[in-house]
Amino acid sequence: MRLDKFLVDCGMGSRTQVKTLLKKKRVTVNGQIETSPKTQINENKDEITCAGQVLGYEKFVYYMLNKPEGVISATEDKSHRTVIDLLDQTAIDKEVFPVGRLDIDTTGLLLLTNNGQLAHAMLSPKKHVDKLYEAQVAGIMTADDIEAFAAGIELKDFICQPADLEILKTDQEANTSLVRLTIKEGKFHQVKRMVAARGKEVTTLKRLSVGPLVLDESLAKGSWRRLRDSELAALQIFDVEL
Ligand code: URA
Repeated sequence: MRLDKFLVDCGMGSRTQVKTLLKKKRVTVNGQIETSPKTQINENKDEITCAGQVLGYEKFVYYMLNKPEGVISATEDKSHRTVIDLLDQTAIDKEVFPVGRLDIDTTGLLLLTNNGQLAHAMLSPKKHVDKLYEAQVAGIMTADDIEAFAAGIELKDFICQPADLEILKTDQEANTSLVRLTIKEGKFHQVKRMVAARGKEVTTLKRLSVGPLVLDESLAKGSWRRLRDSELAALQIFDVEL
């Protein structure tokens, strides 16, 4: 690959910025100063340094975002801010995309990556990946609802797989419930529709986990961090190159 692309991919700056670094003789390839952005390098074999630091090439990048309300889970949109707008330049340069979608008013865990194979595996209906949500509900959820969720809620267009419903709190006076539910699918508005099928309404929805990946509660809404090595190790269950 071209040396300037490699440097951009390593987060050294924009194409223009890395050109300047090269001109200033801050970059070496296998010990030799290189000044041409067009120099071809082998990212897996050559040792490249910038300002005296050896650079490691990242093919894939992984971002954990605590999605806030009001942004959409897409890479571009004409009228709304997207989750990509919340990330950094590296995410844009590496062309990351969200793994699945959360509604505009849903908050919580969203993984963004440029690893298509991982996204495919995590979203595959065949893999039955558990997604845990916490929902504030208008109405009182009951033991009957737990049973109905476990049996498989019937929606207009499909029957949901058995889902686990846990009632954390009910407030008879306010007529509200706080629940956690685990679903294995990811159909459009699925949680809201399942709760609606039981005659109640989701008023706020937050995703807490997807498979082995758990939302880092120290991330404020709208904040992100790269996945840690331990989180990447947990994603090895999907059996794809990471
Ligand atoms: N189910 C929903 O209804 N909305 C989401 O954003 C995610 C799951």
